[in-house]
Amino acid sequence: MAPVIRPAERGEMRAIRRLIAKYPQLLMQTDLPRTPSFFVADLDGRIIGCAALQIYSRRLAEIRSLAVDPDHRHAGVGRRLVEACQLRAAERGVTQVMAVTSSPQFFERSGFSTFKRERIALFWDTSSTAEAEAEKKDGVGNEEGEREIPDAGAGANAPATL
Ligand SMILES: CC(C)(COP(=O)(O)OP(=O)(O)OC[C@H]1O[C@@H](n2cnc3c(N)ncnc32)[C@H](O)[C@@H]1OP(=O)(O)O)[C@@H](O)C(=O)NCCC(=O)NCCS
Repeated sequence: MAPVIRPAERGEMRAIRRLIAKYPQLLMQTDLPRTPSFFVADLDGRIIGCAALQIYSRRLAEIRSLAVDPDHRHAGVGRRLVEACQLRAAERGVTQVMAVTSSPQFFERSGFSTFKRERIALFWDTSSTAEAEAEKKDGVGNEEGEREIPDAGAGANAPATL
């Protein structure tokens, strides 16, 4: 029987984490999106897939933490999870959805592309500089009245995560 794709419910984060932990080399294990951002694939009450749509702005959202249980791969579950994210993005009026992935062909099958519009995403990792680390400790930025980055639930994690 095919799993049901539905929004994650409260209390399901533990099962989602367990699934994501099956791919330590591919997926971030910390700083995950929050429950309301997630869709899950529910097979008779067991979560066998998950994906989160993290909305950063009207212009940009990111698909993160996409995982399908190894026993259920290649059955269309991943594609359906991505479709659920795409639909939510369209419904919320978000213009573009990005994915940072080691499986680009998988996303290309769902209509993602890098070259059609001749665009590539470039990333700069703040943790690579000692200065940034020092700023984090000192809280530099906030003192000068800069806006706090909203919490992850509002979609503010660094984009260089999956
Ligand atoms: C990538 C992943 C989510 C795919 O899930 P899945 O349920 O096996 O994928 P689907 O069955 O929906 O496959 C959809 C299509 O993509 C293809 N595909 C599946 N996995 C692929 C991969 N790793 N690379 C390239 N293509 C892939 C399938 O052949 C299928 O194509 P088709 O419809 O033309 O036959 C799953 O393999 C996984 O959890 N991988 C480990 C974690 C990961 O890499 N997450 C993505 C990082 S954002």
